[in-house]
Amino acid sequence: MPLRDMTAGDLDEVLRIEQGVHAHPWTRGNFSDALESGYVCRVYEVAGAMLGFFVLMPAVDEMHLLDISIAATHQRRGLGRGLLEAALQIARGMNMQRMLLEVRPSNTAAIALYSKAGFAEIGRRRGYYPAENNAREDAIVMECKL
Ligand SMILES: CC(C)(COP(=O)(O)OP(=O)(O)OC[C@H]1O[C@@H](n2cnc3c(N)ncnc32)[C@H](O)[C@@H]1OP(=O)(O)O)[C@@H](O)C(=O)NCCC(=O)NCCS
Repeated sequence: MPLRDMTAGDLDEVLRIEQGVHAHPWTRGNFSDALESGYVCRVYEVAGAMLGFFVLMPAVDEMHLLDISIAATHQRRGLGRGLLEAALQIARGMNMQRMLLEVRPSNTAAIALYSKAGFAEIGRRRGYYPAENNAREDAIVMECKL
């Protein structure tokens, strides 16, 4: 799957996708911080149209998957699986020992995607995410050994 580095000039389009698929989207500041911090940020485009992206944070020998999103109009076509495989390949290429992520228990699509790719639950973080009506939602922590 051909990917390219995300740049500051991509953020309008990245935010358009992000806001279309997340109830609690990352802000422009979150993405520009990730770029400035040197996180591994890649986009997937077809004929100049951005269809998805991911953000990976390297931490010693662990890679943290912070965000992976496919445009709402292009989901369920295998692109999420392809992007996740590409992310795992990058992490292996950097000699990371494992990939970690947090996911909302309500996000059954993402949990199914991660489980198929070899991730398993290793714990929970209580009240990790903001939710509707000032409530909080736990995070499931998942790991994939590389
Ligand atoms: C999670 C996400 C990236 C999956 O992308 P996608 O391109 O639609 O996924 P794929 O087509 O590659 O699907 C791979 C597998 O994931 C699972 N899956 C994906 N979407 C699903 C859904 N809506 N319901 C149930 N399972 C789903 C299936 O097991 C699927 O395999 P199958 O099509 O053979 O049944 C996409 O739904 C998305 O962008 N969601 C919003 C952002 C998000 O929640 N990101 C994760 C947290 S940061």
